[in-house]
Amino acid sequence: MSAQRLLDRERVRELFDLRGAYLSILGGEYRDDPYPAWHRLRAEAAVHPGVVHQLTGFDGDAFFHGLPYPDRPHFSAFSFEACDAAYRDPDVFASSPEPVDLTAGEPSALNSMLSMGGAQHRRYRTLVQPSFVPAKAQWWIRNWIDETVNLLIDGFVDDGRAELNVDFCAAIPVLTITGSFGVPVERALDIRQALHNPAEVIDIIRPIVDARRESPQDDLISVLVQAELKEEDGTTHRLSDAEIHSFALLLLTAGSGTTWKQMGITLAALLERPDVLRAVRDDRELVKAAVEESVRWNGTDPMFSRWVLRDVELCGVEIPEGAVVHLCIGAANRDPARWERPDEYDISRALKPTLAFGGGPHICLGMHVARAEMTVAINALLDRLPNLRLDPDEEPPRIIGMYERGATAIPVVFG
Ligand code: HEM
Repeated sequence: MSAQRLLDRERVRELFDLRGAYLSILGGEYRDDPYPAWHRLRAEAAVHPGVVHQLTGFDGDAFFHGLPYPDRPHFSAFSFEACDAAYRDPDVFASSPEPVDLTAGEPSALNSMLSMGGAQHRRYRTLVQPSFVPAKAQWWIRNWIDETVNLLIDGFVDDGRAELNVDFCAAIPVLTITGSFGVPVERALDIRQALHNPAEVIDIIRPIVDARRESPQDDLISVLVQAELKEEDGTTHRLSDAEIHSFALLLLTAGSGTTWKQMGITLAALLERPDVLRAVRDDRELVKAAVEESVRWNGTDPMFSRWVLRDVELCGVEIPEGAVVHLCIGAANRDPARWERPDEYDISRALKPTLAFGGGPHICLGMHVARAEMTVAINALLDRLPNLRLDPDEEPPRIIGMYERGATAIPVVFG
């Protein structure tokens, strides 16, 4: 049975619809283009007091890692230079206000490596890094990505039309990351649904952890159960259940939401530019450039926060200890000081590092997996769907959202 048949489409739509209530806490009801406001703000100053969504002119609710802390001063950085400088100085611009103790408190995506600093962060990250290096991309493609992508296309290839955003893009990253945790396809959506309820995710993961401890397989969960963590005093130990669960929650969260939206943004950008799509179809080397330009031009997560551990100056602005600084990497990636015609989606640009995957020690662990997913998916669509184009009878895609941006829908026809 195909992966698509096992995934209830209505449930997928509910869970992944950016307009749905689920994401309204992230500013999902924001519909405007934030980039004109970000250009104006950056032109006034690299760093402003305040938080990104309010400075952008959005007065709805929008919570995110680092928001809101009414008792702390808030600043937002809009230039490439300011965001890059903060990422390069993690001892001052820390990922959390205090050290993380995985033995205390419930495991969660935040109570994890994401919030650690210094040596503690390095010790944990080292355990998983080898599974995420570029040379491992083929491992991900062979084990999970190729099959998922092709099963999903099988599900609509004979229909002559499809809605790629939810029926294709949304499912690929969830199935890839849950597959790497040994979670069967039919439970993949339970994981997505339960991400705000860690105990439920852990209930699904626990029996798999036990089974892999008994007999490891060729997957990520087996890497975690066999990993040896080196303590500060030099002793080593296998990861505890709490440590494995915290990794699982972080990876399942970070790996499933982001990539589907970035894939949708990339496909929408190409489909809206038929000449560019044709060029990419004819020269598949360009798929990579199409993906890299998409993360620069319209990154799905345009803001991450840092806690300021001592008084510091950032691009001429004095920031006190205890403040939270919101790095608007979306604005940084269109800084005219670094890119000419920054608002244009132009796949012929010379490649220059962006901040779309963050920077410094917390730079996205999964970026090569995300790139592999997007590249394999776009190539497969181009291989299998001749004359792929936007459906002229449907509304074209719009990119919406504040802190999690993505396409509304990508209705296409082919054949
Ligand atoms: C296009 C898709 C993706 C984007 C745009 C993205 C973006 C980011 C960014 C900006 C950060 C840095 C956060 C910060 O500065 O605090 C980050 C961290 C992270 N990402 Fe991704 N990500 C994507 C896909 C993935 C995937 C597929 C995975 C896993 C399979 C993943 C796992 C992680 C993890 C574990 C971290 C935390 C790393 C650490 O704290 O050391 N991401 N991501």
